[in-house]
Amino acid sequence: MKNTIVIIDALSTGNELAAAFMSRGCDVVHIWQDFSRQTRTQGFVETINYAGSLDDLIQQLRLYDIRYVIAGADSGIALADMLASAMGIPAANDPETTDWRRNKYISQQKLAEKGIRSIRQCKASSAAELVSWAELNGYPVIVKPLNSGASDGVTLCESGEDVQRAAEQLLGKENLLGYVNDELLIQELIDGTQYFVNTLSWHGQHYVTDIWEQVRSRVSGGAYNFEGMHLIDAQETYARALADYTLEVLSALGVDYGAAHNEVILTAEGPVLIETNARLMGASINDVTFSACLGYTQVSLCAAMYLAPQDFIDRYVGTHYRMHAYVSEISFLFKRDGVLEAMPGKRAIERLPSFSNFFALPRPGQRVTRTADTKGLPGFAYLLHQDQSQLTRDFNQILAWQQRDDIYRIVDE
Ligand SMILES: Nc1ncnc2c1ncn2[C@@H]1O[C@H](COP(=O)(O)OP(=O)(O)O)[C@@H](O)[C@H]1O
Ligand SMILES: [Mg+2]
Repeated sequence: MKNTIVIIDALSTGNELAAAFMSRGCDVVHIWQDFSRQTRTQGFVETINYAGSLDDLIQQLRLYDIRYVIAGADSGIALADMLASAMGIPAANDPETTDWRRNKYISQQKLAEKGIRSIRQCKASSAAELVSWAELNGYPVIVKPLNSGASDGVTLCESGEDVQRAAEQLLGKENLLGYVNDELLIQELIDGTQYFVNTLSWHGQHYVTDIWEQVRSRVSGGAYNFEGMHLIDAQETYARALADYTLEVLSALGVDYGAAHNEVILTAEGPVLIETNARLMGASINDVTFSACLGYTQVSLCAAMYLAPQDFIDRYVGTHYRMHAYVSEISFLFKRDGVLEAMPGKRAIERLPSFSNFFALPRPGQRVTRTADTKGLPGFAYLLHQDQSQLTRDFNQILAWQQRDDIYRIVDE
């Protein structure tokens, strides 16, 4: 029997990870916690619907020689930690500390305890308590669920009324990941440019695979829209600062094994963690473009690391990645609700000198809603070029077209 990899909730880039293991000759068993969903990747040796009993699950997996248990998405993290531990698989994160990574309040508390820069915050189960914290600490503040994802419920508030409204909308409601928001988190607003610092870890040794500068815009009544990102040079001083801080964070939060997608804001005083997600970067990792630039993607290097950990440590740990070209990603937005009729901006984008490829473009005829979070994003474009100024020009051109609403044509139903 071949070595078998278990992936829990192969959503988003978790699909790509499953495919990467399969292409390296591994059998992959998929465990679904939300069986109403579909995976893009085919070819799992088995798909198991998890009904809540760990013992039953272990029984079902007896058939296989399981080498690793890996979360394919946020929803799979807690079960992956628990299952790996129950099966005696050492290359996994400690289930005793899952909350350090999954609960945003506890993550910040752990950083504070360990003397690592963190966010001033409070959690509460009533609107009144949230408002009184904000009145004492000042505005603006962020109100958000403790454990959701895809920007669900993240609200920027400038006043007590804003906090009150956000609390009324969110408290007691089920969030995107299926947890009820019994409490909400309120935090000082961290000001600065946001970066995604993607990492891989093995036995507590970490490597930064890629760092992206995020381009985001304010959404009225919500928080931010994600419009795109630029891969930054790991040799730059600020990149080093982001990397050093993130590696400290990973150790503090018990990310010993596997991928992490860390959101870090660079403030005037230095980097501050927004959250660590102990899984791959979500939404899109584009093999063609990213590999042309880095020689790998977080997905391909993750699969390679699990299959040959010593090679990963020897070759990558302690080094900084090198870029062979500049890369940017544009994440399109739907500007309104309606039916998608066409993509009139497509041709012009394809003609830009740095255009590389599109990914996950929506199909004409489908109903769409104005983009206000990062779930079900309306497609991506990738730019790749040796000349950074060309890439920046093309990126800004696409954003200008998006601003003028020239990319998608959406009509009333
Ligand atoms: N305290 C904060 N200060 C500044 N920006 C924040 C803060 N909390 C969240 N954000 C912004 O909102 C986005 C979504 O919040 P996050 O906690 O990452 O939620 P999710 O788990 O839904 O991704 C972040 O990527 C960041 O841009
Ligand atoms: Mg986030």
